[in-house]
Amino acid sequence: MRESLRRSLPLNTRQLLYGSKAKHLYKSFSNLKVTIICGFVTIVVLRGTIGAGSFRLSFPDPSEHHEETAVHKRKDPSRILAAYTQEIVENPEPEWDPKTPYSLGPKISDWNEQRASWLSKNPHMSATVNGKPRILLVTGSQPKPCDNPAGDHYLLKSLKNKIDYCRLHGIEIFFNMAFLDPQMTSFWAKLPLVRKLMLAHPEVEWIWWMDSDAMFTDMVFELPMEKYKDKNFILHGWDQAVYNEKNWIGLNTGVFLLRNCQWSLDILDAWATMGPKGTIRLEAGKLLTKTLKGRPEFEADDQSALVYLLTTKRDEWGDKVFLESSYYLHGYWVILVEKYEEMMEKHHPGLGDDRWPFVTHFVGCKPCGIHGVYPVERCLNQMERAFNFADNQILQMYGFQHRRLGNTEVKRTRNDTTHPLEVEDNLKLLHASFKTSSSVAL
Ligand SMILES: *[C@@H]1O[C@H](CO)[C@@H](O)[C@H](O)[C@H]1NC(C)=O
Repeated sequence: MRESLRRSLPLNTRQLLYGSKAKHLYKSFSNLKVTIICGFVTIVVLRGTIGAGSFRLSFPDPSEHHEETAVHKRKDPSRILAAYTQEIVENPEPEWDPKTPYSLGPKISDWNEQRASWLSKNPHMSATVNGKPRILLVTGSQPKPCDNPAGDHYLLKSLKNKIDYCRLHGIEIFFNMAFLDPQMTSFWAKLPLVRKLMLAHPEVEWIWWMDSDAMFTDMVFELPMEKYKDKNFILHGWDQAVYNEKNWIGLNTGVFLLRNCQWSLDILDAWATMGPKGTIRLEAGKLLTKTLKGRPEFEADDQSALVYLLTTKRDEWGDKVFLESSYYLHGYWVILVEKYEEMMEKHHPGLGDDRWPFVTHFVGCKPCGIHGVYPVERCLNQMERAFNFADNQILQMYGFQHRRLGNTEVKRTRNDTTHPLEVEDNLKLLHASFKTSSSVAL
């Protein structure tokens, strides 16, 4: 286990997840110089992708404002995009008062009873589908176009990838593009969203959060839900790394499942206390860096806060949390993407682990922004490869596959016939048995 953990941990964790402050500062300064020369500064608040982003200031290209370019403005789509992203926040919310405890919403203590009562009154909305728990996959991206236009293209590919998996496995999907809580920005935005969806959808048994920069790379693999019947919170991670080492990357909050129940509302409340932006989040960040292994100095993030909560209150929460490492519920892209060709040669989808990873997560990439930790070009190339690796499993149903992983081109793998219903796809995804169930009478 230690070996696999070490391999999945980056050499420099600061670099891995959030980049260095120094780098941001340097970029801001060099942009600032250019802007001042032209005599004005426009400040726009933009945000990275949900789950990995953070608020920052951006200084647009001053040439946008030159009078003589006004004529071209109407024609050049990049200028329309720039105008759209320059919207100023109209009602900036004040900082949360650190003296009042933060709350995600009115305190609910009888959610299990409320939910059970609703389900009994609405028998057509069962919390199981074909004998399996009803799951809602939740993901999202920022409300505005990406700084890097190619980022929007990869958000679309990443969403198509999730739609494909969900459609094949009878999972519902929700894509969020709005900031619901002005305090819970950047990586904290998923908490109010997950809570809101739980309360609005009592028929859903599990909320499955997935960052927009994570893709399914095994379209056949199914979650072993039976294994989790006594658990409420499933994440990729290792008990040893979290509880013994207090390692801030001993688990990953980019992909997780949370059961729709009172326990989950309670842990969301406990988890959210370090979230409100400003003083609370900054101070909490110092505590987290001091307490957790390997954590660089930056404001409190949801992942560190969860490791902290679990290590300090294991008795209270630990027994309902399952840290999964037998397959890649989240798989760190750097250790996986170069091996796709080898996997295709030696193995087949349905395994979910090192041999054929269930999820490939582009941690540290920020394809929607302009400065992630890794070069944007490397990220986008590898996202293309991961997408095509997964998409081959979809295309094979229809007799096609990508010529190469790095290329959008496809080729036929079989000729059309006059008896199309006799053709079977290799992975048996076309009429997969897990889509239907013997419990459904026709
Ligand atoms: C399709 O049919 C043509 C002509 O019979 C044949 O040459 C070709 O190999 C076939 N392609 C595939 C992928 O089977």
